[in-house]
Amino acid sequence: MTEDNFELAVVQVPSPAQGEFLVKNLWLSIEAGIRTMMHEPDVEASKSTIPLLQKGEPVHSFTVGQIIQSRHPRFPKGSYVTGLCNWQEYFISDGARMQIVDADLAPVRYYLGIMGAMAAPAYFGLLDVGKITDGETVVVSAAAGSIGSVACQVAKLTGCRVVGITGSDEKVDWLVNELGIDAAVNYKKADNLQDCLKSACSGGGIDVFFDSVAGKSLEAVIDVMKVHGRILAYGALHGYDGGDSVWPTNYLKIIYKRLCVKGLSSLDYLNRLPEYHAQMSRWISEGKVRWRETVYEGIENAVPAWIGLFQGKNIGKMLVKLGDPEQIP
Ligand SMILES: NC(=O)c1ccc[n+]([C@@H]2O[C@H](COP(=O)([O-])OP(=O)(O)OC[C@H]3O[C@@H](n4cnc5c(N)ncnc54)[C@H](OP(=O)(O)O)[C@@H]3O)[C@@H](O)[C@H]2O)c1
Repeated sequence: MTEDNFELAVVQVPSPAQGEFLVKNLWLSIEAGIRTMMHEPDVEASKSTIPLLQKGEPVHSFTVGQIIQSRHPRFPKGSYVTGLCNWQEYFISDGARMQIVDADLAPVRYYLGIMGAMAAPAYFGLLDVGKITDGETVVVSAAAGSIGSVACQVAKLTGCRVVGITGSDEKVDWLVNELGIDAAVNYKKADNLQDCLKSACSGGGIDVFFDSVAGKSLEAVIDVMKVHGRILAYGALHGYDGGDSVWPTNYLKIIYKRLCVKGLSSLDYLNRLPEYHAQMSRWISEGKVRWRETVYEGIENAVPAWIGLFQGKNIGKMLVKLGDPEQIP
């Protein structure tokens, strides 16, 4: 994808009708998964398992905005809302699939990142599905990204040895020296990722892999996994934007090692978000988790920010700031 595939348009937003409200979007969440909704012309939409964007349709992702006019009884003017929305500065909603967020619990943009629906599966996936325990070795790919950095810290707070895979020395430094994980490998510099992982894991092998990338890094990890290890498959960045196959060529080792591979979807944890918010806000207030954001300004920079995600330009959550909240009496 390049910027030429996108167009910025000016459209009129109507006034809210009865049962509707007008939202001023403040923050856009820039998400890699949007790429999986954009198909090449030769791909039949019917073959996809997710709703695909059609040519000319607005791109959408999670946003946080402020209600500036309301004719809806449950969504008062001045409150902040999040939901899956078009990349627009203003929009009308009837409240379907929109949720009010608690601006007293955390800054509202956190609901797109560390407190967001996309990060929650890192917490529930590692603890409930991966069943990580004190002393186990956990490896995380895209470790300095918004979800990977949460996964690293959840595993560290559980007492695991944590190793990140990431794409720059600056990110290695952030992960090890600020987030306090045990080791991180810059995959772009590693001649042999498998050997680098072996030494980062002190020769002991990997119990659990939280994976957002697949492809070559998954292949290297499978080689270093312990027998009965668990792989939590959350994303496949390696193949989203024209990369090689995401499938590991050492598939048979999944069988020989009796590995458990489990796919995770953020949709499965939406009803547990209050539990996640309570735990994460507690960790934030106790200074137990750290967080970074990479912020672009203005809707005209949404596409450069999104393309930048695939070039590793973000540390932590990639966001676009669209505006400031209004003073509402
Ligand atoms: N299953 C679900 O329900 C669900 C929901 C939301 C997100 N996800 C997945 O979560 C993952 C993270 O998404 P995010 O939007 O939060 O992005 P992110 O992790 O904040 O940022 C993406 C990072 O991935 C790395 N990356 C990009 N392209 C790569 C490639 N080809 N190979 C290796 N690393 C690459 C880059 O860092 P480096 O410098 O380290 O390369 C980049 O900073 C994605 O796979 C996404 O699909 C899954």
